[in-house]
Amino acid sequence: MQIDIAVIHGPNLNLLGTREPGVYGSRTLAEVDTQIMTAAHELGLGVTIAQYSGEGEIVDAIHAAGEHARAIVINPAAYTHYSVAIRDAIAAVAIPTIEVHLSNTAAREDFRSIGMTSAVAQGTIAGFGAYSYVLAIHAAAELLAPKRT
Ligand code: DQA
Repeated sequence: MQIDIAVIHGPNLNLLGTREPGVYGSRTLAEVDTQIMTAAHELGLGVTIAQYSGEGEIVDAIHAAGEHARAIVINPAAYTHYSVAIRDAIAAVAIPTIEVHLSNTAAREDFRSIGMTSAVAQGTIAGFGAYSYVLAIHAAAELLAPKRT
């Protein structure tokens, strides 16, 4: 089945709501997913959403999205900063990828400024909490919209 946007959450995001709420906000992942689905529905786009802890699982999910989706919205979480495998998977698929972060990674520890995956994404949205994902869905809609010639 073809879908419009595959949303992929990385490790530790399943703990949203209780995980460092001062950094990541108080919404649970289920609540964030509801916001994502509402935004996509309003734009007339179909989404799938999944969370994975493992690097290999995320690589597999990116490959699957490359076959079945038109765009990827991904928060690689900690893998953002060091995963060459996820970077290469994003670069390998022919569809656009939008990277998302809840927190403003540029304003945090130095190691979070290293964006291994950011360089192969179409763009990155960071620092708006759960709304970063809503912005990313809108960015994906823009990328998928028919272009003027
Ligand atoms: C994060 C930022 C990463 O640095 C961190 O490892 C995460 C979450 C964010 O959404 O702000 O797990 O990707």
